[in-house]
Amino acid sequence: MPWHWATSAMAATAVLLALQVALVLSEYAEPLVPGEQWQKQKPGWSQRGAAVNLPGGRWTNDAQDAFFDGSRLCARLRQPDTSFKTRCTHVIADQTFRVSAAGDFEPDGASEMLYDEYVRIDYPTDMVPGSWQQSSRNSKLQGSILETELQREDGTWVQTITSVLHWHFLENIDGTFYIQRAPCASLGVCVYSYVLKLDAKDLYCTRAVCDPIKDRDQCCDRVESCAAMTSCDRSQSLVPDLNGWCRDRACDQILDQDICCVPAAFCDGMQCLPGYVLKLNAHEIQCPQSMCFPEGDRDLCCEQQGVCSDLPYSSADCPVGKWFNSDSLCAQRQCNNVTDLGICCQPAMRCDLGLNCSHGFVPKADYEQIYCLAPECSETDHLLVCCDAAAPCSDINCGHGYYQLSDTYCGSTECNVTEDFSHCCLRSAECSTLQDQSCPYGYWFDHDERCLRDPCDSNDRSTALNLCCKPSEPCSSLTCLHGFVYKTTYLSLTCLLDECNMTTDLGRCCDVAAHCDTLSCGHGFTPDPLANDTYCPATSCDINRDRDLCCEAAPECAVAFTCPHGYTSWPDTYCDGVVCDDTRDRDICCRPAMPCTAVACPTNYVTRFDTYCRGVTCEIVRDLDWCCERGMALMYYRFLPTDLRLAGYTVVQMSDFYLYNQQIVVEGFDQAIFYCDPCDTPVNGREDPVNLGDGNSETKWLDYSRNGFYVKLPAAQPIFSYSFITGNDEAIRDPILWQLWGSPNDVDWVILHEITDRTLGESIVPTARATSTLQVSIEVPCFAPTASHIDNAANVTCEEGDLLRHNTNCTPVCQDGFTPNIDAILCQNGELTPDIFSCA
Ligand SMILES: *[C@@H]1O[C@H](CO)[C@@H](O)[C@H](O)[C@H]1NC(C)=O
Ligand SMILES: *[C@@H]1O[C@H](CO)[C@@H](O)[C@H](O)[C@H]1NC(C)=O
Ligand SMILES: *[C@@H]1O[C@H](CO)[C@@H](O)[C@H](O)[C@H]1NC(C)=O
Ligand SMILES: *[C@@H]1O[C@H](CO)[C@@H](O)[C@H](O)[C@H]1NC(C)=O
Ligand SMILES: *[C@@H]1O[C@H](CO)[C@@H](O)[C@H](O)[C@H]1NC(C)=O
Ligand SMILES: *[C@@H]1O[C@H](CO)[C@@H](O)[C@H](O)[C@H]1NC(C)=O
Repeated sequence: MPWHWATSAMAATAVLLALQVALVLSEYAEPLVPGEQWQKQKPGWSQRGAAVNLPGGRWTNDAQDAFFDGSRLCARLRQPDTSFKTRCTHVIADQTFRVSAAGDFEPDGASEMLYDEYVRIDYPTDMVPGSWQQSSRNSKLQGSILETELQREDGTWVQTITSVLHWHFLENIDGTFYIQRAPCASLGVCVYSYVLKLDAKDLYCTRAVCDPIKDRDQCCDRVESCAAMTSCDRSQSLVPDLNGWCRDRACDQILDQDICCVPAAFCDGMQCLPGYVLKLNAHEIQCPQSMCFPEGDRDLCCEQQGVCSDLPYSSADCPVGKWFNSDSLCAQRQCNNVTDLGICCQPAMRCDLGLNCSHGFVPKADYEQIYCLAPECSETDHLLVCCDAAAPCSDINCGHGYYQLSDTYCGSTECNVTEDFSHCCLRSAECSTLQDQSCPYGYWFDHDERCLRDPCDSNDRSTALNLCCKPSEPCSSLTCLHGFVYKTTYLSLTCLLDECNMTTDLGRCCDVAAHCDTLSCGHGFTPDPLANDTYCPATSCDINRDRDLCCEAAPECAVAFTCPHGYTSWPDTYCDGVVCDDTRDRDICCRPAMPCTAVACPTNYVTRFDTYCRGVTCEIVRDLDWCCERGMALMYYRFLPTDLRLAGYTVVQMSDFYLYNQQIVVEGFDQAIFYCDPCDTPVNGREDPVNLGDGNSETKWLDYSRNGFYVKLPAAQPIFSYSFITGNDEAIRDPILWQLWGSPNDVDWVILHEITDRTLGESIVPTARATSTLQVSIEVPCFAPTASHIDNAANVTCEEGDLLRHNTNCTPVCQDGFTPNIDAILCQNGELTPDIFSCA
């Protein structure tokens, strides 16, 4: 093969590059890649594209500048006159080509070449290979017609005739021919840069027809790269074609020179690395290899471009909207201060198109007129060019119930409450959204209060407490209602809410006060009637504290209460009220007194009737005067008329007669016996003295001879007065003058009273019939001094006898041989003066 092709392949590379197709630099293959795969390229960069398989066949031996565009294969083909001309052909399926004698593409029919291969790899040509032979007999191959008997699986034989091609490998499947897998040899030739393996006759493709691409690695070996050529004639500037391949597995240093040794490449086919440009004479400079390498041959082929920074310019020298890119490269090695300005001044980006002010920044006022001095705005470099720092929301005081998030900003460099409030200030959640709404004592949960943020941080109890729990008003702000008192601990107590409310807090702060009526006022005091709506200043009343409040001094019984008859006042007692009450206080102030009958009265004294000692027991010293009075207890009395209303008249009459002790009819008077001696009463017995005591003024006593009558009491009793009731008729029979006698023993008698003056008598005795006289007092007589108390006195100490009438004298009598020390003792109202005498 002539070396031209390899040279041309090199050129084809350039063409392909120009056609935007480049070598695939497979990660797995060696850097210099076989020519059968090309890839569509984009300008400037090596990147993967759609794989393109060059058709197989021998055409590559006679072609340059091949490119394959879809189904169209074009290449410059060797002409009969050894010149090259571009020819194209359409490729169908796995068609293979060769260059015809006329210098054009023609299908590289496998048959002929296959036959050669068959021969070359020693297939027997007189028979059809394949496994069918083991189950056949009587085979006969005539030309391409195979006639044989095939054995079926049931052991029978079937006569079969088929047309075969040289490369057919047949198999017998139950008496029928099938094409077995094709032998690799049927490929004829491998794709570019590959040759059939030496043992290809024992190798098979995967299917009945070999696929030059899919079966390539099964059937073919790669040929050696031209790089292995050491025999190229460097004196003629021939070097190994680094993109080319030798004919066989190992390069033949002689035979392969024609395809592997190519002229060294010129610099002008190479693209310099960025920052470099080809030297002006690059087309004259030859690289040392068959291709120029941008890095290795950089300094050979390229020179550095000038950098814009070489120019004495800055962005200020660029027109508006452009920036001076000092890193940019000038067109040539030397920057031109005129022509390169257009290169170095590059379109800048307007702030409003290229940069969104980041969080916390706001566009400058003339944002739309500001450019980032760069192709693109970058936040790092241009933030402060385009934007101003926004004022932080914290410049606004949101006030109670709002909160701010950190890292929030106002819409401008200064906060404007009107505009920024709504996004700077967030409403905090209401305390009522908290689940746990308990507050400690002394605090109340304010549902309307707001937390520090939204939602409330319910995990932070202490914050919630500080915010949502408000101090309650102390109980001391509440005035307990009338009838209530502060609880004793009220200084440490609080109302429920921030304001004390009588309804809800009364029970919290106050106790029901004890009413004064629960206080027992104690001795000498009585509940103050005006304190009926007064309460002690505590839950219970205390006598020491509250007595003045609830009580008044009670009137002392001794002063303010008069005990009734039969009772005696009780010392140091007080009425049970501010005013003593006869009924209520009797048993408080008084005790039943002992009747004076317990006191033995001395001589000439009688026990006062119905009188009680001035104490519960009688004491002589105290009660003697009280219980005993001058008087005489007598059992017998005698009324003796001495003249009648009709003077000198003798018929005396009287309806009833009464004796009194202390104005009361004497005790036992109803059992008194009335009698007369002598008597001159009517014989019919109807007007006997007994009528005087019957209490019936219709009955009367009458005596024709003005005899008197006697009364005998059941027991001796003192009397102090008497009265009688006039008879029913005949006033002339009324006694006007009379005597009343008394006797203790019906032996010794004494005059108790005597009327001797008619005028007095008539004033006492009414003329009206059956009408009572006034009570007439008697004169109290005296007993003679008791002999037992006077030494040597006579048994009867008075000459006048044992009984002495009022206003009469006693003449003392001593025993014989003795003389009284006085001559007379006067009896007046039962009292002797002197009351004693002595005998000497
Ligand atoms: C541009 O370059 C020329 C030649 O080097 C020089 O004379 C001229 O002053 C330069 N102009 C400026 C503006 O630098
Ligand atoms: C600025 O924001 C707008 C709206 O979100 C967006 O469409 C645009 O791409 C952003 N520009 C930059 C440079 O990020
Ligand atoms: C704040 O904003 C309001 C409404 O946009 C405007 O009327 C007012 O003048 C602004 N105040 C200041 C101090 O800029
Ligand atoms: C006190 O509490 C009651 C019951 O809760 C309520 O009806 C009343 O309005 C409250 N009074 C005041 C002054 O708040
Ligand atoms: C308390 O006493 C006064 C005066 O005696 C009387 O007017 C008032 O009705 C009494 N109040 C009660 C509750 O008993
Ligand atoms: C006086 O009394 C005594 C004692 O009772 C008696 O013995 C005496 O006889 C009495 N004398 C006269 C004169 O009665």
